[in-house]
Amino acid sequence: MTVSSAGVTLPTLTAAAVRLREFTLGDVDALHRVYGDPEATRHLSFEPRSRDQVAEIIEGILARRADVPRTEYALAIERPDTVEVVGMARLALGDYRSGQIGFALRPDQWRKGLGRQSVELLLRLAFDHLSLHRVWGASAPENRASCQLMLSVGMVEEGRIRDHLRVNGQWRDSVVHSILEEEWHRRCGHPSPSRSGTPQPAVE
Ligand SMILES: CC(C)(COP(=O)(O)OP(=O)(O)OC[C@H]1O[C@@H](n2cnc3c(N)ncnc32)[C@H](O)[C@@H]1OP(=O)(O)O)[C@@H](O)C(=O)NCCC(=O)NCCS
Repeated sequence: MTVSSAGVTLPTLTAAAVRLREFTLGDVDALHRVYGDPEATRHLSFEPRSRDQVAEIIEGILARRADVPRTEYALAIERPDTVEVVGMARLALGDYRSGQIGFALRPDQWRKGLGRQSVELLLRLAFDHLSLHRVWGASAPENRASCQLMLSVGMVEEGRIRDHLRVNGQWRDSVVHSILEEEWHRRCGHPSPSRSGTPQPAVE
């Protein structure tokens, strides 16, 4: 299967306990169980969302999916055993072959390794299929779960963006973690890509 920077086709993204797939309008209730939950959104940049707001979020995701080139992969995290959507994982493409990740799971699914597997699949999409050079994520400094998850997939802490976001009328710092393509390929035992900055061809 081919994925180009236009991202016409999503590759198969499956790990032992999760798979990432495109959202459908049938996923509103499942995503609302994440984005409507005060515990799941405590460290995110927004208040818990209503069902109608989540429906709008999914409509936006479906609309942006058609962009050419595609710059957002906002994907449903599904458990293959129960075929249930339990979260969302997102990769947003930026300049210089970079991508920012975000992720959230329903609280009853936490601490089972699903977050780690989902982020590893995002990194596989980013580096193995989209040939990105750098992937980063920003967490609230007190969000230990998010920081630890990013460390657990080989990302390194880069530092702190001061007053990165305005949340509930307050400025909020973010801690940034990142991983570069050579670090990812080394971790996976692949040959090292060149640092010339020339994008690698899309994987088939
Ligand atoms: C962040 C989140 C996705 C983690 O998912 P998860 O499935 O519970 O994480 P995993 O079970 O895969 O654990 C991954 C690593 O994080 C660690 N971890 C998970 N929760 C933790 C916590 N509350 N405190 C400290 N470490 C934690 C695990 O021990 C594991 O580390 P290890 O491999 O070094 O042992 C989940 O807590 C969540 O959805 N939070 C709300 C949304 C959010 O904050 N998203 C991040 C925005 S950037």
